Amino acid sequence: MDRIRIKGGVPLEGVIAIGGAKNAALPLMTASLLTPETLTLENVPDLADVATMSNLLVQHGAAISMGEASSAGGHRVELSAAHITSITAPYDLVRKMRASVLVLGPLVARCGRARVSLPGGCAIGTRPIDLHISGLRQLGAEIELAGGYVEARAPKGLRGAEILFPSVSVGATEHLLMAATLAKGETLLVNAAREPEITDLAHCLVAMGAQISGIGSDRLRVVGIEGLHGATHRIIPDRIETGTYIMAAAATAGEVRLTHTRSDFVTGLVRVLAEAGVEITATEDGVVVRRRGDHLDGVDVMTEPYPGYPTDLQAQFMALMTTAQGASMITETVFENRFMHVPELARMGANINVHGASAMVRGVPRLTGAPVMATDLRASVSLVIAGLVAEGETVINRVYHLDRGYERLEDKLSACGARIERLRDGA
Ligand code: UD1
Repeated sequence: MDRIRIKGGVPLEGVIAIGGAKNAALPLMTASLLTPETLTLENVPDLADVATMSNLLVQHGAAISMGEASSAGGHRVELSAAHITSITAPYDLVRKMRASVLVLGPLVARCGRARVSLPGGCAIGTRPIDLHISGLRQLGAEIELAGGYVEARAPKGLRGAEILFPSVSVGATEHLLMAATLAKGETLLVNAAREPEITDLAHCLVAMGAQISGIGSDRLRVVGIEGLHGATHRIIPDRIETGTYIMAAAATAGEVRLTHTRSDFVTGLVRVLAEAGVEITATEDGVVVRRRGDHLDGVDVMTEPYPGYPTDLQAQFMALMTTAQGASMITETVFENRFMHVPELARMGANINVHGASAMVRGVPRLTGAPVMATDLRASVSLVIAGLVAEGETVINRVYHLDRGYERLEDKLSACGARIERLRDGA
């Protein structure tokens, strides 16, 4: 397995281009199952999760062609599911990536039945799919769980319904939004998630002919139609990649310009970082990040659904706070068990105590490099940030987690002066 070696202590200086949003790309790719015509997506990031989703869709019968990266970065991908040849999403593919369950709704809406493996355990909590299943049942699907699979049937098609989510779920909102586009009659999704990736999906579905109102709000209204058609859609910038590099720049006391992104997607983060002493200035196509003074101040943060502070930027913020002056209380409300980076950061000298859903970080003057283990995508990149700040050498094992969500991470950071390299398997 590849590893990443970082020699820390260099302030990042330079320009980083941000890619298309992974968490928008994955549901958008599954939307191609809703139509026999071609869906063309632009600004698709070249990531392991995108490859996993492609493999799954091909297995269902879709033809997928990925073009060369454009000069602005990002790929153009054509997805054509003219004929669905399999309605089964097998365990081997679904277990690799939870977002795979999103094929269930589109398949049952288009083909009247689908069989999708349950995703199984996940490093950041139990992450059930009960909201996905109960929502599809409300849309008229008959669902059974058998042999580790969700088996759904709607021989006469789905029908619209009012669905009230008892808690906010990004995936369940996307899932039911897609399914409702082909249901008979009207669907109302109440207490829907409002992440920009959901808005992006809704805009693409509208371009495919869907009738959706309330886009961007927590009440989405869908009037189902007979069939969707093809469309071309450009994926929004990745706000989590944006936030990650903002914090990498701030942690190393550097100055970095991020391009091909949007400052309005990271307002929650900008507010918190302003308090911590980081200056983030919006530009035409992104932001410039620099520190205001010679140190960072400890600030408290609580993760929440959008527009609150994102859970996917919690680990990176913790890495940033390890060397701030004073203390920072970080509370995780979206996922249970999302502090796996804590023992690894502690191995680098961080002072962190976890009590239930909160972690108290007391700033230390410096971190020191150490061999550490990546446990999930965002935890891994928090170790990269810590490694960039630490004195000496850090080696991060299990880098495949990073490859799921960060395109050319070493290239982007080394172009800003970081001493970072990938040690290929066996090196
Ligand atoms: C998506 C993102 C992920 C992000 C998360 C929260 C993608 C591909 N992934 O994940 O990066 O961290 O949103 O912003 O977009 N839950 C249930 N029952 C369900 C569904 C969810 O209890 O049926 C719970 C989860 O366990 C979790 C919470 O709801 O505690 C939020 O999860 P959800 O918003 O669904 O996250 P994902 O869509 O899986």
